[in-house]
Amino acid sequence: MANSKTRYDFKPDTIYCGDNLKVLMDFPAESVDLIYIDPPFFTSKKYQVIWGDAQEKRMFNDVWKIGIQTYKSFMRRRIKQLWRVLKSTGSFYLHCDYHANAHLRIMCNAMFGAKNFRNEIIWHYPNRWTNVSKNFQRNYDTILFYTKTKNNTFNTQYTPLKESSIKRYDKTDENGRKYANLIHKGTRYKKYLDESKGRAIGDVWKINILGSNSKERLGYPTQKPEALLERIILTSSNEGDIVLDMFCGTGTTLAVAKKLNRKFIGVDFSHTACTLMAERIKYPMGDIIGMPMTFEDVKKMKPFEFQNWACRRFGGISNPKKVADGGIDGWKSGVPIEVKQHNVGSPAVKKFITVIQQSPEHNKGYMIGYKFTKGAKEGKAWAKEDLDIDIEFIKVDVLLKG
Ligand SMILES: C[S@@+](CC[C@H](N)C(=O)[O-])C[C@H]1O[C@@H](n2cnc3c(N)ncnc32)[C@H](O)[C@@H]1O
Repeated sequence: MANSKTRYDFKPDTIYCGDNLKVLMDFPAESVDLIYIDPPFFTSKKYQVIWGDAQEKRMFNDVWKIGIQTYKSFMRRRIKQLWRVLKSTGSFYLHCDYHANAHLRIMCNAMFGAKNFRNEIIWHYPNRWTNVSKNFQRNYDTILFYTKTKNNTFNTQYTPLKESSIKRYDKTDENGRKYANLIHKGTRYKKYLDESKGRAIGDVWKINILGSNSKERLGYPTQKPEALLERIILTSSNEGDIVLDMFCGTGTTLAVAKKLNRKFIGVDFSHTACTLMAERIKYPMGDIIGMPMTFEDVKKMKPFEFQNWACRRFGGISNPKKVADGGIDGWKSGVPIEVKQHNVGSPAVKKFITVIQQSPEHNKGYMIGYKFTKGAKEGKAWAKEDLDIDIEFIKVDVLLKG
């Protein structure tokens, strides 16, 4: 796991688990072609998150205790590094919303230069509707688009022509091709329908937000649709280019970059997010830079991250309930798992025995902990002899080696 000594050597097609500022500071200048970021929006909300099938849970804390100044300072330091690592032909897309877009626009103007501001893209999602009474529906996010210089890569994207435009191609030539007679600067010319690329897309993008039944959904409320990233990546990069997302979440950017034959660099400080994105893009877990490797790393993990890590590492799934979880932290093949981020003594074992007794379909349970005391071992032996309940102890050491 990342510590103050961890070095994040720059390597395309890599996932880094760590604070993105530290990661970026190790990267060389002018090294990436395209950056998309989807940072916390300064919403002052706490998200309790259920992670899809694996029913992972984690808290994504978007609470800025001291207010906008803390948020601005957090973002300014990161945008400064992003500007540094971006190539002179590169593009930067910053995803935000009404909470902080005004502040971020001013910040980016200062960093990239107002002349390098390209667009304020409106991502309009018509499929989200909430109950509001004192203001209009809020159904768009803002994506600020900047480039480092005027020499940016830009591949215009097109949408198919509307029926009304197609109707204008009302003539047919001797080869059966449809065309329209148009006038440009006083000169008449023929425009063929089969040569039209469609309509160049503008700065208002109508793309649905992921619905709860969407196949893409991985259980994370701020997960972005692949269609959105596809548009950005196709426009501002070419095959083989390096795409960086340092607030990666479920790894949408990485998944799309990979699909479009770009190289990717993904960063997130949540070990659970890194695990999830690695699974999504079939990236080897052992190759994630900054993942917990030692006992000391594991001790520093937040409790819910530790629980997710331990259950997954053991081949189980983590209980999504943070409170009132019935004393069960996860399951492996339906058998309950209890996770302790410390040494385990007899009281914890006795409590777990009661939990197992409450779910009569299993007379078995797994306990994960640092070490198991003599009392814990006696409790386990007693459970087997007197209650015919099997408890298996798994040491964190073993999980780290496995
Ligand atoms: C809004 S989510 C990104 C969602 C993503 N676009 C997707 O489609 O799944 C923001 C992510 O940034 C991560 N994050 C927040 N602060 C970070 C930091 N300082 N360093 C690295 N990751 C951070 C969070 O863990 C979270 O997963």
